[in-house]
Amino acid sequence: MLTAIRWLVFSISLLPFISLLCAAIQDTLGPDPADTLAIETGVWTLRFLLLSLAITPLRELSGWVRLVPYRRTFGLFALFYASVHFLTYIVFLLQFRWLEIFDDILDRPYITVGFLSFLILVVLGCTSSKVMMRKLGRRWKKIHTLVYLANILGLIHLIWILRTDLTEAVIYGSILLPLLIYRAYKYFVARRAKAGLLSRVDMA
Ligand code: HEM
Repeated sequence: MLTAIRWLVFSISLLPFISLLCAAIQDTLGPDPADTLAIETGVWTLRFLLLSLAITPLRELSGWVRLVPYRRTFGLFALFYASVHFLTYIVFLLQFRWLEIFDDILDRPYITVGFLSFLILVVLGCTSSKVMMRKLGRRWKKIHTLVYLANILGLIHLIWILRTDLTEAVIYGSILLPLLIYRAYKYFVARRAKAGLLSRVDMA
């Protein structure tokens, strides 16, 4: 049953990619197919990142531990869509003009920010396995809090692209903000508890 649900989640997560692929094959991506691909894959990267971030609070508030593996699943799907997004940019938008690509990454702030977010996702993807978790020990958790930064950078990237009509950014931002507040709250509660414990040890 559990494996069936995992397969279902996996297949549903692949659907946006498959539908984009079908539209590309049938040439129904609209007047500017490369731009549509860039926009759609970018949006799905952000959605999967937010989904991945939402898992921990959902698990803690609902007590439903079975949600835990999906944090990694959604995180890896965010990396997958970000890779397709980056490839779309290299292959279709900039058509392998490497010098221009490097210039863009260095000189165009919205590309720089998107690229930084992508690099973080690559690091998180490479360190997401159980083996890496064991190897990195306590550092693993610290490294993986970078997912919040990746999300914030992704949102800044979007705001920079949208410029005037920020409706889309406001929608994603209003999902991200409570998740950030929840994380900050947990962090301060844990710090307080630790400080309390240390002072009790000192007094003893
Ligand atoms: C590898 C680095 C990246 C590059 C070079 C890049 C480049 C681009 C480009 C060229 C567009 C199309 C802009 C337009 O419509 O004119 C775009 C759109 C978008 N990107 Fe990225 N991006 C990168 C990483 C990311 C990441 C990591 C995220 C998410 C966390 C992201 C989220 C988005 C979103 C949401 C859009 C759609 C904007 C819209 O709705 O119009 N991008 N990106």
